[in-house]
Amino acid sequence: MSSNRSSYMVKAESEPACSMRISRDSDSIWCSRECARYANRIGFKNGEIWDIAIAISELVTNVSKFARTGTVTICWLRVPRSGIEFVVEDSGPGIEDIEAASEDGFSEGRRLSDNVPMSERRGLGAGLGAVQRLMDEVVIENRTSGGVRVIVRKWLEK
Ligand SMILES: Nc1ncnc2c1ncn2[C@@H]1O[C@H](COP(=O)(O)OP(=O)(O)OP(=O)(O)O)[C@@H](O)[C@H]1O
Ligand SMILES: [Mg+2]
Repeated sequence: MSSNRSSYMVKAESEPACSMRISRDSDSIWCSRECARYANRIGFKNGEIWDIAIAISELVTNVSKFARTGTVTICWLRVPRSGIEFVVEDSGPGIEDIEAASEDGFSEGRRLSDNVPMSERRGLGAGLGAVQRLMDEVVIENRTSGGVRVIVRKWLEK
């Protein structure tokens, strides 16, 4: 661990977890910026911060597109490893087939190979697959009370 990184961690230890509300499309911009800033403060490097910003942008965009409103919560993890956790959740319709939705090219219950014209699509079905590649751990689940909860984590030390 570099000394730079450890001094950030000492400073960040007193920071409370923070929660943000998602209520419009443009929230993907400021939510991903805030998550990136938090990750920077606890010692993540540039490339990792970009990964986090893109993953949060994809998840927040999904919330505003498919569920309209939701929340993002940031948590600094210390036990059993140092890292960061983001929980993005909503009370929308949920995802019928989570495994299929996580595959590239699967959007709104259909595959790109189904030849549905782009004008009738709202996405390429690339978001959840990208999140899986960018983050170290990803859990996607339907909430018992309705809606989706996505928990993503990135570790400071691999
Ligand atoms: N929060 C959510 N609530 C309901 N359905 C969701 C949610 N997030 C994702 N989905 C479903 O999972 C599918 C796949 O999501 P994904 O982000 O991979 O693709 P997309 O949003 O359709 O396209 P892209 O992200 O490439 O613009 C979505 O098309 C949608 O049907
Ligand atoms: Mg998406």
